[in-house]
Amino acid sequence: MNPNLPNSFRTGPDERGHFGNFGGRFVAETLMPLILDLEKAYAAAKADPSFQAEMNGYLKDYVGRPSPLYFAERLTEHLGGAKIYLKREELNHTGSHKVNNVLGQIMVARRMGKKRIIAETGAGQHGVATATLCARFGLECVVYMGAVDVARQAPNVFRMEMLGAKVVPVQSGTRTLKDAMNEALRDWVTNVHNTFYCIGTVAGPHPYPMMVRDFQSVIGDETRKQMMEAEGRLPDSLIACIGGGSNAMGLFHPFLDDPSVEIFGVEAAGHGLTQLHAASIAGGRPGVLHGNRTYLLMDADGQIQDAHSISAGLDYPGIGPEHSWLHETGRVTYLSATDDEALAAFMLLSRLEGIPPALESAHAIAKVTELAPKRPKDHLMVVNLSGRGDKDIPQITEILKGKKQ
Ligand SMILES: Cc1ncc(COP(=O)(O)O)c(C=O)c1O
Repeated sequence: MNPNLPNSFRTGPDERGHFGNFGGRFVAETLMPLILDLEKAYAAAKADPSFQAEMNGYLKDYVGRPSPLYFAERLTEHLGGAKIYLKREELNHTGSHKVNNVLGQIMVARRMGKKRIIAETGAGQHGVATATLCARFGLECVVYMGAVDVARQAPNVFRMEMLGAKVVPVQSGTRTLKDAMNEALRDWVTNVHNTFYCIGTVAGPHPYPMMVRDFQSVIGDETRKQMMEAEGRLPDSLIACIGGGSNAMGLFHPFLDDPSVEIFGVEAAGHGLTQLHAASIAGGRPGVLHGNRTYLLMDADGQIQDAHSISAGLDYPGIGPEHSWLHETGRVTYLSATDDEALAAFMLLSRLEGIPPALESAHAIAKVTELAPKRPKDHLMVVNLSGRGDKDIPQITEILKGKKQ
């Protein structure tokens, strides 16, 4: 660990949006006034008890929170080590953790009087959550999605359109999440006056990484309470998958100052770390993208490299800046799981617990299968089940068909 550790890991970012050397606000001049407005609006909302009360009401009755903390008895028996609990974010309305954040941002957008919402999406879960809440509050919704992801996450595209959103397939670059985010930023610059950009993860310019983390921290806050109720003490370890890192940050943040809690983030190792992958910490270095400084996949000239993952939600060449800082301080350990390991974990959880995980979450389950057997039986391990696998069934069916041939 770094000898210059902070007294607390929970006080960031600073007033300019920095987590150590990461984060910040690298945006076009036209966006700066809007970013400052958003920062003000969010600070006011956060301090307003009526905002919190309204949000808690929707979290309970619309989203379906608290999500259960479920003891996975058969998975635990199978692995023969740590006692494994699943934080069931996949049971939220819209099928993933993304809805926690979208609800918060849409409520801020409403306070700011914005009528048009734009978003980027990879797996489609953030797009579905945004389309859902725009339908609920009668707002115009435009979702940018890489053309490759449009093809591999077809059920979610259909769902967004059914909810009244316009899905724009993005044809540039690798036609995945990074390109969708570029396009959304372009739209925002052009339509600043009436548009709110609802970012799906703990990335982007300050205050987004902080705001999204705050909205997602409901996951860790609930886990803390639920584990105390179930076992009378804190968990010993936490594990979550990382695309940009919002479900992970949400689970981790409330535990960062508890040194007894080991914390693991799992990036997508795709075909392997020396080949095509999306592991920005394991295979990247610090640079600037999408408004913040963070670990990125880059070539020798500093050009952003193509990311690859079997799961559309992890297929991003960066990671949220707070994770970069937690990596450099050593507070969180970042691991990675390959496409094949994620696929095997998908099958394992489906067969043992009757719960098909999203391919994203399957990356975290894959590392549980390695870590849990090495821990004693009284070790309490929590894995965040960030989403359900329904959206991935067509893709997995195709892959399995290919393997049989
Ligand atoms: C189910 C699910 N899990 C995880 C992720 C990754 O995002 P994040 O790292 O921000 O949680 C996504 C993104 O689309 C997702 O849909």
